[in-house]
Amino acid sequence: MEKKLEEKIVGDRIYLRLLTENDASKDYCRWLNDPEVNQYLETHQATIGSLKKYIKERTGDKNCFFMGIFDKENNKHIGNIKLEPIDWKKKSAVTGILIGDKSYWGKGIGTEATKLMVNYGFNKLGLNEIELGVLSENKAAIKVYEKVGFVIDHIEEKAKKHVDIFYDMIVMKIFKR
Ligand SMILES: CC(C)(COP(=O)(O)OP(=O)(O)OC[C@H]1O[C@@H](n2cnc3c(N)ncnc32)[C@H](O)[C@@H]1OP(=O)(O)O)[C@@H](O)C(=O)NCCC(=O)NCCS
Repeated sequence: MEKKLEEKIVGDRIYLRLLTENDASKDYCRWLNDPEVNQYLETHQATIGSLKKYIKERTGDKNCFFMGIFDKENNKHIGNIKLEPIDWKKKSAVTGILIGDKSYWGKGIGTEATKLMVNYGFNKLGLNEIELGVLSENKAAIKVYEKVGFVIDHIEEKAKKHVDIFYDMIVMKIFKR
């Protein structure tokens, strides 16, 4: 599946589009350096340079759709969502989301973005299965995934170290119906 940079996945309040190096902004850096935002993430610091490199690698990877989440009203970049890696043979992919602008938390944006990404994966990319891993402590994220229709596949006990404590990793899946 060829990636079309200009393509938009449009929802009620947000749209998703593929990121380019120009999207490596100060705000995007700030999100990843914010302990409240990054507490359950693997990345805990970023610079404009490191973000440009990260985006460039993903743009060139045919097994990855790395999209920004944008507010339709003002075109503000508020977060990211991705399918990575995509296994085209198995028609499966792993997803992950970040709403970096905290003023948008708790308004259903995470749910809307995840639904858009999942529907795109199933209906446009031809995937049959999407999975993700979430730390058991990340209650907001688990709630989002449940609202979208993900179900728990299995739990990897004490699989992820996070600030010196090992937490359970919940692996959730959704299948095309
Ligand atoms: C997790 C995240 C994507 C949620 O996005 P969001 O836009 O706030 O999500 P929504 O508003 O769609 O839904 C959040 C739900 O979690 C609930 N929630 C929030 N905090 C909660 C908590 N501590 N315990 C239980 N439920 C909680 C909200 O009430 C809401 O449920 P509701 O619609 O039934 O009221 C966002 O907080 C984020 O990006 N966090 C940082 C990065 C991250 O952790 N990503 C996920 C990695 S797996």
